[in-house]
Amino acid sequence: MKFAIVLFALFAVALAAPTDVEILRQDSKVEADNYTYSFGTSDGTSKDEQGELKSIGPDAQAIVARGQFSYTGPDGVVYTVSYVADENGFQPQGSHLPVAV
Ligand SMILES: *[C@@H]1O[C@H](CO)[C@@H](O)[C@H](O)[C@H]1NC(C)=O
Repeated sequence: MKFAIVLFALFAVALAAPTDVEILRQDSKVEADNYTYSFGTSDGTSKDEQGELKSIGPDAQAIVARGQFSYTGPDGVVYTVSYVADENGFQPQGSHLPVAV
């Protein structure tokens, strides 16, 4: 019985152990009124975003961010989402996402 518990515990630890995912690229640049950042990891995950300050009225500014991220889902499919986030909200697009009508 004790052996079974120890075996089960070892199995659980093995399952919980993180996989070795490495950062392959990572970059960021922050200027006075714009920025970019990006990264890519060895599991195929990546993200790229650019943002800038935009005037949306006489006394109003908004940060407009554009970018895309990509990852492999648990089903093995690579999902890619590109997006704009501005004064109108977060607007994602991807072939797997429903389109508003
Ligand atoms: C970001 O800001 C810097 C400094 O103001 C400017 O030189 C550069 O052209 C800007 N980049 C973009 C993409 O607007």
